[in-house]
Amino acid sequence: MTFLCLSRRTTLLRMLFCLTAMIFTSSVQAWWSLGGDDNEDRGYQAEFPLNERYQFECGACHIAYPPQVLPKASWQNLFANLNDHFGEAATPDQNQAEILNYLKNYASDSNNAGQFKDFTKRLQTPAPVRITELSFWRLKHDKVLNNKTRFIIDNPDVGSSSRCNACHKDAEKGLFQKHTVNIPNIEKRAYK
Ligand code: HEC
Ligand code: HEC
Repeated sequence: MTFLCLSRRTTLLRMLFCLTAMIFTSSVQAWWSLGGDDNEDRGYQAEFPLNERYQFECGACHIAYPPQVLPKASWQNLFANLNDHFGEAATPDQNQAEILNYLKNYASDSNNAGQFKDFTKRLQTPAPVRITELSFWRLKHDKVLNNKTRFIIDNPDVGSSSRCNACHKDAEKGLFQKHTVNIPNIEKRAYK
């Protein structure tokens, strides 16, 4: 084709042919590079704007969980009990209503949930305040939970299922893709 297109005896018809061929080739290339390897594992990547108040008030004892990992009712129930939050006092000094609004706006049953609407699958009533009690979370972690003592409790680098970031390094940014999961101190074939 190069010869045909670069030849000096280019006619109008030939030019047209070459142009079409060039456009076709480049769009195939663009499609290919967009699709690429990660196409099959776009998986769970939450998209949400960062909220500094939320991170400050709720990110001190554990990661500031991405809003998409719980449905609205769970966030609501959790905020109703912040004075006794798993044995801790966690009531924000200020901006409580704003933070709750932000979380509900991006919750797993909001219009901003994307793939994370899966977190509402087989949702129990009342909706649990723990992510790790959601049916969907438990389903996705069945292998982990079958080995809870070794993988989590006795694992010095994990300790609790609530520490998403121990195994999903970019959990706070909302990234939970399969290919980036790594349980510290455990051989991959035990959970892959
Ligand atoms: C003073 C420390 C502290 C602060 C501040 C705090 N938390 Fe927690 N949070 C905890 C503890 C402790 C747990 C239980 C962790 C465990 O079981 O390992 C927890 C658990 C959770 C869980 C359940 C995780 C699971 O197991 O699925 C959610 C959701 C949560 N917190 C949200 C919040 C939100 C939202 C805020 C801000 C309003 C907040 N936390 C502030 C200490 C805190
Ligand atoms: C002890 C390690 C560990 C902890 C802690 C953990 N996970 Fe996972 N997570 C895994 C493993 C292993 C898988 C399954 C990967 C696979 O199927 O190949 C997984 C899968 C997932 C998936 C599904 C990924 C997919 O593409 O199917 C999501 C979403 C997820 N975890 C979210 C969370 C959240 C949210 C937390 C914290 C509340 C958490 N995980 C805590 C190990 C962990």
